[in-house]
Amino acid sequence: MARPSDSLVRVSTPSAAGRPRKTLAGAARRAAWLARRTLERRARPGAGIASGPNALRRELPPGRFAVEREPATNALYERLSEQEVTAVEQLIRATPGAWEHYFGIADRATDRGLLLSVGMWIGSEELAERTGLIRAEPPEEVHAMSRGALTAAGALYEADMVINALTAGGGDIGEVRAALDFGCSSGRVLRSLGAAYPGVDWHGCDPNVPAIEWAQANLPLARFFASGAAPPLPLEDSSLDLIYAISIWSHFEPSRGLDWFGEMHRLLRPGGHLVFTTHGLTSVDHYLKAGLRSSEQSHEIERALYRRGAWYAAEFGEKGDWGVTDPGWGTAFLSPEWLLTQLCPRWRVVEFAPGRNQDNQDVYVLQPA
Ligand SMILES: C[S@@+](CC[C@H](N)C(=O)[O-])C[C@H]1O[C@@H](n2cnc3c(N)ncnc32)[C@H](O)[C@@H]1O
Repeated sequence: MARPSDSLVRVSTPSAAGRPRKTLAGAARRAAWLARRTLERRARPGAGIASGPNALRRELPPGRFAVEREPATNALYERLSEQEVTAVEQLIRATPGAWEHYFGIADRATDRGLLLSVGMWIGSEELAERTGLIRAEPPEEVHAMSRGALTAAGALYEADMVINALTAGGGDIGEVRAALDFGCSSGRVLRSLGAAYPGVDWHGCDPNVPAIEWAQANLPLARFFASGAAPPLPLEDSSLDLIYAISIWSHFEPSRGLDWFGEMHRLLRPGGHLVFTTHGLTSVDHYLKAGLRSSEQSHEIERALYRRGAWYAAEFGEKGDWGVTDPGWGTAFLSPEWLLTQLCPRWRVVEFAPGRNQDNQDVYVLQPA
């Protein structure tokens, strides 16, 4: 149905502000048109499922942890004296374009993570020596979630997120003796955490064999091993204080994901913590806004989350995820209700921050009950 044109509801006499005013008759016509349109929409099958991107707008802001700091970044940065910080800054300024490109014209020198990353990227030996950071970038053919200058000190954002989540969940990295990065790829997060907390016995596993081989050869700060698509892992019962998994349960077919929760339960000592991220409702909004999923599919996922609590599609196809082929590995969205129902009372959920990972994935912290 055609919408009444605006000219029909305006009179020609200008208002005090010089703009046309609506007449009463025009307003009544418009109200009648709106009412008819509403009735027609209700009568149509599928009505109420709007198709525009804004129809699915999530208005809740992303959650935050009870504790928000930059613990891993600070642990590394604070090993530098003032003179050493100045020396790294000078080195960055002496590299054509580096300062302008990464720090802009403002006071970005205060950004500690940026100084560590760009300093490592341009090859400051002093920085590597003082912090224990390793500047080794996997080649293009080896899987890595990020590359380049902003990953030259590892994944500081994710490292800080893991430690913040652990702290918010009542844990203390100072008491962690052994930890596992489950699904570590080529070890970008372990590069930061291994350097920041060298007293921990760090482990990393992933089914992507070339990524694990590269990490084994280049990152002596952790023990890496290739894992299978399904449990178990070659680690002893109750041998770990901390397990973290970034963007892993966002890929498991839900029943496979439950099997892996069982394995994590076996590996954690009493009082240990599991920090993991997964897609939830905030991710539906995130991908829709970014144009990465259609409005129709976003509605499908949203409905599945409300009705069943989980949505899964084996989206990697025949080639798999960088050669790792497994029908139980695709894209998953999970609601907090589903997770709580499945996990409790075997687990206690000690922290939940919806959308906290990049304003996209939800972060959970669990403890074996
Ligand atoms: C989205 S990436 C995240 C990598 C890493 N956590 C990070 O943040 O850099 C997903 C990783 O999970 C790995 N993966 C695939 N199947 C897996 C499985 N069954 N168990 C654990 N990890 C798996 C992939 O090889 C890939 O390295």
